[in-house]
Amino acid sequence: MPAFGLVSSSFCSTRSHDSITRLPNQRYRARNGASSSLKANAAVQIAGVGSDVPKLVLTNQDLEKYVDTSDEWITTRTGIKKRHILGEGETLAGLASRAASKALEMAGVSPDDVDLIILATSSPDDLFGSATTVQATIGAKKAAAFDLTAACSGFVMGLTTGAQFIRSGTYKNVLVIGADVLSRYVDWRDRNTCVLFGDGSGAVLLRAAEEGEACDLLGIDMHSDGEGLKNLNCAFAGKGNKPEGDEASSAGAYNNLFMNGQEVFKFAVRAVPKVLLAALKDANMEKEDLDWLVLHQANMRILASAADRLGVPPERVVSNLADYGNTSAASIPIALDEAVRRGDIKKGDVLGLAGFGAGLSWAAAIVRWGGPGK
Ligand code: ACO
Repeated sequence: MPAFGLVSSSFCSTRSHDSITRLPNQRYRARNGASSSLKANAAVQIAGVGSDVPKLVLTNQDLEKYVDTSDEWITTRTGIKKRHILGEGETLAGLASRAASKALEMAGVSPDDVDLIILATSSPDDLFGSATTVQATIGAKKAAAFDLTAACSGFVMGLTTGAQFIRSGTYKNVLVIGADVLSRYVDWRDRNTCVLFGDGSGAVLLRAAEEGEACDLLGIDMHSDGEGLKNLNCAFAGKGNKPEGDEASSAGAYNNLFMNGQEVFKFAVRAVPKVLLAALKDANMEKEDLDWLVLHQANMRILASAADRLGVPPERVVSNLADYGNTSAASIPIALDEAVRRGDIKKGDVLGLAGFGAGLSWAAAIVRWGGPGK
C-alpha cells in the first residue's frame, strides 16, 4: 500500500486544479454562511457510509412464476439470486433518507451541519426531484439539495461533484446519496430485464479535511456517449400536452426500461478497466495499489472480467449481486457500506470505484477509505 501524504494525488494536489484554487472563496463563504474555517484546496474526507433497502424480497424462484426463466439461468448468467422491491407506501426518498441518516451517524455529523445534499437517482418520487424531500426528512435545515441523473454512474459522478464543492472551499459537509427504484419502470413480462433490477439506496458523507488530515478522493475519470442511449433507455412516452381538447390534461408517462443486454455487456467489459486505469493515473497510482474493487453491481461476469484485466484477485472484488441485483445508482454505496461494516474494508485501504450504464455513461474514482471502520 502506498504512503499517503496530505495531498498525495493529482485530484488532491493544488497544482492540477488551479482553476479551482482561484475561486473567489471569501464571497462564497459569505453567501452560504458556512464555517469560516473553509478554504480552497481543502482535502476531501469520506467520513461515513450507510445504506437501506426495501423489506420486500423477490427471489429467482418467485420470478419463475411470472416469466419464462429459471433460477439456474439467472444465477449462471448474472450471479443474482434475489432482489429487494419497493413495497406499497414506501418511497425512494424514504430509502435515501435512512441511508443518509446512517452515513451521518457513522461520521458523527449532525444533520444541522450538512451544507449540501446530492441525490443521484433516475427514479425520483417527483419529476422535480426527491433531494429536497430527503433534506426535510433528515432535518438538514440549512442544506441545499438537488438531484443528479446519470443512471448507474450517478453515484460516482455525484461523489465527484460533491468533492468539487469541498475542494473549492464552498462547503464543509456534503451528503452524496445514490438511490434508485427501477422496479417502477420494469416490464415484469420482459425476462430480458425484469430479472436484473432491484431497489435500494446508499450514501456517503464527504467532509472537508482538518489541518493535517489526508485526502480520501485520490483520482477520478468520467465519460459519456449519447450515441449509446439507444441500447439502454427509459424514454418519455407521453404525447405532450395541448392547450385544448382531450389532451388538455393528459398525464406524462415513461416507457418501460429497454436494454440491449449484449451491447451493454460489451461496452461494460471494455469501459470499466479503462476508466479505472485512467482514474489510477489521475491518482498517480498503479493497479497494484488497489486493495479492493467496488464496482457497479450489474453482472458478476462483468465484475470478474474487470478484475481479471486489472489483475485484482476475485476475493478483493466486493460483490453483493446475489442479494440485491442491480440497484443502479445505489449499488456502489450499498456494497461499500456492507464491506465496511463487515470489517472487510479497513481504514487506509485503497478502493477502485466504477459506475457504468445508461447514457451511456461511465465513471471511476480512486478512494482511500478513511472513515470509521474496524
Ligand atoms: N431467463 C431465461 N432465458 C433468458 C432470460 C431469462 N431471464 N433472458 C434472456 N434469455 C434468453 C434469451 O432470449 C436468449 O435466448 P435465445 O438464445 O434463444 O435467443 C438467451 O437467453 C441468451 O440471451 P443473451 O441476451 O445473449 O444473454 P446474455 O448472456 O448476454 O445475458 C444479460 C443477458 C444478463 C442481460 C447480459 O447481457 C448483461 O448483463 N448485460 C449488461 C447489463 C448491464 O451491465 N447493464 C448496465 C447497467 S443498467 C442501467 O444503467 C440502468
